Amino acid sequence: MRLFLDTANIDEIRDLAWLIDGVTTNPTLVAKEKRPFEKVIEEICELVDGPVSAEVTALDADGMVAQARPLAALHKNVVIKVPMTEDGMKAVQVLTAAGIRTNVTLVFSANQALLAAKCGASFVSPFVGRVDDVGGGGMDLVAEILETLQNYAFGTEVIVASVRHPRHVLEAALLGAEIATVPYTVVKQMFRHPL
Ligand code: G3P
Repeated sequence: MRLFLDTANIDEIRDLAWLIDGVTTNPTLVAKEKRPFEKVIEEICELVDGPVSAEVTALDADGMVAQARPLAALHKNVVIKVPMTEDGMKAVQVLTAAGIRTNVTLVFSANQALLAAKCGASFVSPFVGRVDDVGGGGMDLVAEILETLQNYAFGTEVIVASVRHPRHVLEAALLGAEIATVPYTVVKQMFRHPL
């Protein structure tokens, strides 16, 4: 199982760079750093030799593709995070055809994951914490997505996202999810035990 850090904070990434396999950011996380978006992404790529997700903010497919191309050119490890919308999936098709990897985010159903995989997404990110928040079963969603994707040869990997506590990480691993993206504090909690 690969562990990604869900942060844009350079100090957190530097501290855990020896352990992690990649980084996921989102516009909210990057905004907290109060520094230019591209600069933050470049610095992360220097610290971690693995996929680094950088998210587009445009709402239309052409706008997403236009934002994605310069981001992807920043470093070979940049993966473009695209929201799960119809326009997002059009953008994923274009980016995939151009050899640019994508991470489809805000996935809340197995059908959405299936559509993303069909459009060529490299990664899909089901948001387990937010599904739990509304009374759903975040891990049931992950299990459904894994079972669905395993029936085919899409080559799409599952990133368990919106992780809130160490149990989420363990349950993701028990299900055999390829990746979990985990906040810094939750990784630190994973090391500890009261005994
Ligand atoms: O991995 C997605 C994450 O950044 C969002 O998490 O806790 O806001 O649902 P959360």
